[in-house]
Amino acid sequence: MNQSDQLIIFDTTLRDGEQSPGASMTKDEKVRIAKSLERMRVDVIEAGFPIASVGDFEAVEAVANAVKDSTVCGLARALDKDIDRAGEALKGANSARIHTFIATSPIHMQQKLRMSPEQVVEQAVHAIKRARQYTKNVEFSAEDAGRSELDFLCRIFEAAIDAGATTLNVPDTVGYAMPHQFGETIRALREKIPNSDKAIFSVHCHNDLGLAVANSLAAVDNGARQVECTINGLGERAGNASLEEVVMAVRTRPDIYACHTELDTTQIVTCSKLVSNITGFPVQPNKAIVGANAFAHESGIHQDGVLKSRETYEIMRAEDVGWSRNRMVLGKHSGRNAFRTHLEEIGISFESEEELNEAFSRFKDLADKKHEIFDEDLQALVTDSRSAREENERVKLISLKVCSETGETPHANLVLSLDGKEIADSAAGGGPVDAAFKAIEALVNSGTELQLYSVNNITSGTDAQGEVTVRLEKGGHIVNGQGADTDIVIASAKAYINAVNKILEPVEKAHPQTGDRLTV
Ligand code: KIV
Ligand code: ZN
Repeated sequence: MNQSDQLIIFDTTLRDGEQSPGASMTKDEKVRIAKSLERMRVDVIEAGFPIASVGDFEAVEAVANAVKDSTVCGLARALDKDIDRAGEALKGANSARIHTFIATSPIHMQQKLRMSPEQVVEQAVHAIKRARQYTKNVEFSAEDAGRSELDFLCRIFEAAIDAGATTLNVPDTVGYAMPHQFGETIRALREKIPNSDKAIFSVHCHNDLGLAVANSLAAVDNGARQVECTINGLGERAGNASLEEVVMAVRTRPDIYACHTELDTTQIVTCSKLVSNITGFPVQPNKAIVGANAFAHESGIHQDGVLKSRETYEIMRAEDVGWSRNRMVLGKHSGRNAFRTHLEEIGISFESEEELNEAFSRFKDLADKKHEIFDEDLQALVTDSRSAREENERVKLISLKVCSETGETPHANLVLSLDGKEIADSAAGGGPVDAAFKAIEALVNSGTELQLYSVNNITSGTDAQGEVTVRLEKGGHIVNGQGADTDIVIASAKAYINAVNKILEPVEKAHPQTGDRLTV
């Protein structure tokens, strides 16, 4: 295969994905997702928009320092201050890319930028040249290309290549394109731009009409060799093209697509679960590839067919995307070394002996309650203990007793530590979880509103751990908290407390396209 046969997978879960209202992630959570993407061998990880806030800058910097095998990218408007900030944040990266953009559609140029097409070309060229001072790997995006004029796109892309851009991205920013027409646009750009062979054409499709994956694939069919996408299709509004769907479509239909990806697809399900757990965005059961039912056969005819020959109803193997990794891995007699070695095998390493000891002690507690421990349990256990450490835990759960009985009002007795001081209270509620949350609020008085409460079982069986996500909102500041335990009321309390710890210090950041200051 020649060089052009590789389809570059550019993941923007940490940047565009984080633009989904409610999907904000902390620095440590971003690093964990980035490491999972690196394990999947994603080519480019867009880690954030460094100028947006100090938190965004630090997250891009942390991802750049932590990731060794994937290229780490930072987003920048076509402005000197944005590019300098991105260059600074990416200093520690083994391989860095700056992604700079400016809008090119008539409506955006006239109404938003109030700039002439000439000024837009000039600013784009200037920005690319400035980005080249930091790295040779520069991507240029023509924002709202889906509604831009073809001749103008040809003009700005030709100038962008001359200025040093190595990737040209064609975003369907508002999800307006139709597959056949979008594919033709990519073909026309490649044919009409005289120096088009000097850059890789990329697409970035939004899902407003449910066509993000179809549009991305139509572009690939017409020569695009980079797709920008997100895990679980997370992203602004209706989301971006889903990474798992694009990658598995290309892999399943080599007869159609003249390219391949370098991804380790067996990491897909683990990464999808991590993103879902951290963001609190559940994956619908019938979601392609990563939904719980994606490989489940309910009807007798289908089951019969699959038992006789799997190919009768299955076009992919569940294990190829990581569904069959649910095997018993460790038990109550496993030692500290086996624990550390196995976690290293699934890509989790510890920063200090103290962190390892804490996780091992949580593992022992879990092993007392749960006979078989799976990879997913270990992931949750480490997520749980890391988020507790990271938030500096002003509020800690000491003990919780909940009474729930037929015909009686559920009641919770709770002891917390708040800034090192033990405090206790009790509350009644509509159910045991409601009572526990009311007891927490009686003590911390966070003034937040519960926006989302979701429980997922990490593995199957009635002794499985419940993984709870709680989303709290206060004055536009939204946070997600996670907690896992074999007792779902305890898991719920842990998740609520984790969210409360995050809400104590709100952060302001800018939206890359609108420039609005957002509190996240
Ligand atoms: O949707 C969009 O246009 C973007 C750009 C910044 C690439 O996210
Ligand atoms: Zn976007």
